[in-house]
Amino acid sequence: MPFLQGILSLALASATLAAKDDLSHVKPLIGSTNGGNVFAGASLPYGLAKPVADVDGQNTGGFSTDGSNVTGFSHMHDSGTGGNPSMGQFPLFPQTCADNVVDKCKFPKMARATPYKMGSVDAKPGYFALELQSGVKAEMTVSRRAALYRFTFPEEMTADGSLLDPLISLDLTDLWDSRQNATVSVESEAGRIKGNGTFLPSFGAGYYQAFFCADFVGAEVKDSGIWVNDRAGSEPKELFVTRGFNNFYLQAGGYMSFERPVDGVVTARVGVSYVSTEQACSNAEKEIPDPLGGFDKLRQSAEDAWSEKLEPIKITSGGTTDNMLAAFWSGIYRTMLSPQDLTGENPLWQSDEPYFDSFYCLWDAFRAQHPLLTILDPQAQSRMVRSLLDTFKHEGWLPDCRMSLCKGWTQGGSNADVVIADAYVKNLTGIDWELAYNGMVNDAENEPLEWSYEGRGGLQSWKRLNYIPYLDFDYLGFGTNSRSISRTLEYAYNDYVLSIVAKGLGKGDHTRYLSRADNWQNIFKEDQTSFLANGTDTGFRGFFQPKYLNGTWGFQDPIACSALATFCSLTSNPSETFESSIWEYLFYVPHDIAQLIKFIGGPKEFVARLDYFHESGLADIGNEPVFLTVYEYHYAGRPALSARRAHSYIPASFNATYSGLPGNDDSGAMGSFLAWSMMGLFPNPGQNVYLITPPFFEAVEITHPETKQTAIIRNVNFDKTYENIYIQSAKLNGKPYTKSWIGHEFFTEGMTLELTLGDKESNWGTSKEDLPPSLSDGIAQDEMQVA
Ligand SMILES: *[C@@H]1O[C@H](CO)[C@@H](O)[C@H](O)[C@H]1NC(C)=O
Ligand SMILES: *[C@@H]1O[C@H](CO)[C@@H](O)[C@H](O)[C@H]1NC(C)=O
Ligand SMILES: *[C@@H]1O[C@H](CO)[C@@H](O)[C@H](O)[C@H]1NC(C)=O
Ligand SMILES: *[C@@H]1O[C@H](CO)[C@@H](O)[C@H](O)[C@H]1NC(C)=O
Ligand SMILES: *[C@@H]1O[C@H](CO)[C@@H](O)[C@H](O)[C@H]1NC(C)=O
Ligand SMILES: *[C@@H]1O[C@H](CO)[C@@H](O)[C@H](O)[C@H]1NC(C)=O
Ligand SMILES: *[C@@H]1O[C@H](CO)[C@@H](O)[C@H](O)[C@H]1NC(C)=O
Repeated sequence: MPFLQGILSLALASATLAAKDDLSHVKPLIGSTNGGNVFAGASLPYGLAKPVADVDGQNTGGFSTDGSNVTGFSHMHDSGTGGNPSMGQFPLFPQTCADNVVDKCKFPKMARATPYKMGSVDAKPGYFALELQSGVKAEMTVSRRAALYRFTFPEEMTADGSLLDPLISLDLTDLWDSRQNATVSVESEAGRIKGNGTFLPSFGAGYYQAFFCADFVGAEVKDSGIWVNDRAGSEPKELFVTRGFNNFYLQAGGYMSFERPVDGVVTARVGVSYVSTEQACSNAEKEIPDPLGGFDKLRQSAEDAWSEKLEPIKITSGGTTDNMLAAFWSGIYRTMLSPQDLTGENPLWQSDEPYFDSFYCLWDAFRAQHPLLTILDPQAQSRMVRSLLDTFKHEGWLPDCRMSLCKGWTQGGSNADVVIADAYVKNLTGIDWELAYNGMVNDAENEPLEWSYEGRGGLQSWKRLNYIPYLDFDYLGFGTNSRSISRTLEYAYNDYVLSIVAKGLGKGDHTRYLSRADNWQNIFKEDQTSFLANGTDTGFRGFFQPKYLNGTWGFQDPIACSALATFCSLTSNPSETFESSIWEYLFYVPHDIAQLIKFIGGPKEFVARLDYFHESGLADIGNEPVFLTVYEYHYAGRPALSARRAHSYIPASFNATYSGLPGNDDSGAMGSFLAWSMMGLFPNPGQNVYLITPPFFEAVEITHPETKQTAIIRNVNFDKTYENIYIQSAKLNGKPYTKSWIGHEFFTEGMTLELTLGDKESNWGTSKEDLPPSLSDGIAQDEMQVA
């Protein structure tokens, strides 16, 4: 036994060493400015506790490198989101008060906001640190539901020569001051401040409660109390605040000051919970039993947790730059910050099932992020699907967007359907498929009263007319009555993936959903033109258009809502397409691209459209609907053009700089696009299909965490300057392979794909039988263009 153990731990040690190496490429500050909104602080994979410094500038994810000032250090965040700044409750702020007079400390948020020292920011997986202009250094690390902070205070004197006392205040607020009622209580003897508050979700309906329990160790408590606005006092020790009066937001909280310890270090351990203050305290006590001596050990275990998550992937870089490696590994890292595992922290219902939160939003994440988790962390992905299903069971609907225990706003279709179908076609285990089927049918058949945050709207029209009408007459349910084009397209795909699951489960109704999958065809207007703003005819004919209830066409300019016109969101400037133009939605028929190509006039015309779309400024690479369009050349028999297109965006729009993301990371959705693109496979979610392009590295190996089989994609003639990006020929497990796509078995069975590259487009993947599958396998061989 001891001998065996020795060998095992040796093997483990070397595996961990390789993963550590990869971990050093992760740069949490990528996307920390320019609207990336990434969370740059310390977290475990899918962790609830997420401490970081909060700033008063671009603070949707807490911290930003936009040069704005630090307002505190808080313990819960979201990453990359686009709504209001998310969470950031109960920030701590370390300072000293002039002359040791507590009223000379700065309590309100804007009064205490302070710059940090340039170059002091240190962000690593599981660790974040910076130094404030005041000389206070803040370091933080994390367990699943608790944060550990080490604040080092400089030695400062009062005018009469005594030492200034370290003081730490706690603010009963969050990032966007959404707090309603809150309570704080200060236990001087125990060195503990605890409490709770009610807050609003950053992109959803209702409100939620959050609880905290902060313990201060390593320094003797000198004074403690509460503060309100800019005044503080050591009596009383408890405080209840409402939102405020006359629109005047009350700022209040607790504080503790300390005898300055010799080393200047005051340690704060903050447990958080969505259940109770008691649970916040017990989370902290259980997960961080030794706050004073355990910082380095805790940091190490956070690092180890990340190493383990990155372990399935091995990259042979072939001389690729460190920046490309950093962009890649950081992209993968960010896909595991959210959704957050709140199992045991759900106050809404009793269940033994896992509970995940911060699906923010599935409209973003279904396309690439959940498929990525399916290959790298299938157990976690399966638990996420189970959580979606348990939410359906207890709240009546599958979530579409969900944050902070609240229902988030639905952006288009019911895209949990796609996440479920993707898990189904890829054989994820542990999922109750009958329950899944029921949840999907519920989306497809029953209209909720309020479809702004669950299910689908306009279902009467959907069933009767087979499209979502422009200005629908919908008296069954209510939501933003817009997006008729994008909802038609998304509902059609949602019904398609439901038909796949229904068929697999032997349900007779699969044909009904299969026929609804064609509904996109009903809003295609063959003779629709598209002009640029200066009046130039793009020359293309045939676009989706809004259609009234009576069957008459409405009109939306195909370039509206693109970068060449004005942005359209749910609330500002709602239109018939969500956050994207008709041009961009033109390509959203993921299940039947062959038929779409026919509608558009054949493969040659389709390629011309895609090229124009990507080269004219119409494509918005910073928003998720664009993802699949980068790879749709495959369906027209031109996989080489997909590879070329991917290189046009990486690294120009996705790179390792602080501003290296073209838009919100959306909980890692952008990171997952980047990761798949660089690995040389791109999923068409909900289908057992990955589109093949050459990896950006010499080789990529992915070991399936369950089957332990290793899938390998290797480039022959790899060229780190990316001249050779065109596949000349391919071999699968040593045998010639001409299809431009591959199924999930590639990963589960651990196949080897060898791609021989050249600097010119070849005939590889161009024949009809090599195309990825479409519902109606529409293109005749004589229509295919030979490269
Ligand atoms: C940051 O705080 C400093 C000092 O209080 C102030 O001078 C500066 O204007 C603030 N910077 C920003 C971006 O608000
Ligand atoms: C806040 O407190 C007030 C006064 O106690 C109470 O009437 C109100 O219902 C509370 N609101 C919330 C959201 O807790
Ligand atoms: C918040 O804490 C106060 C004081 O302990 C308590 O009275 C109140 O019930 C708590 N609120 C919730 C929602 O638990
Ligand atoms: C899923 O399981 C079925 C039945 O065992 C099998 O036929 C199919 O190939 C599997 N699919 C994948 C993607 O592994
Ligand atoms: C119209 O705009 C397009 C795109 O910016 C440009 O290529 C074209 O030359 C312009 N045409 C005229 C007539 O200004
Ligand atoms: C259909 O409805 C639209 C919108 O109300 C209206 O403008 C149009 O004239 C109607 N068409 C017919 C044929 O009645
Ligand atoms: C990195 O990406 C950002 C965001 O898309 C872009 O603005 C910037 O130009 C890129 N930088 C480089 C060096 O490619």
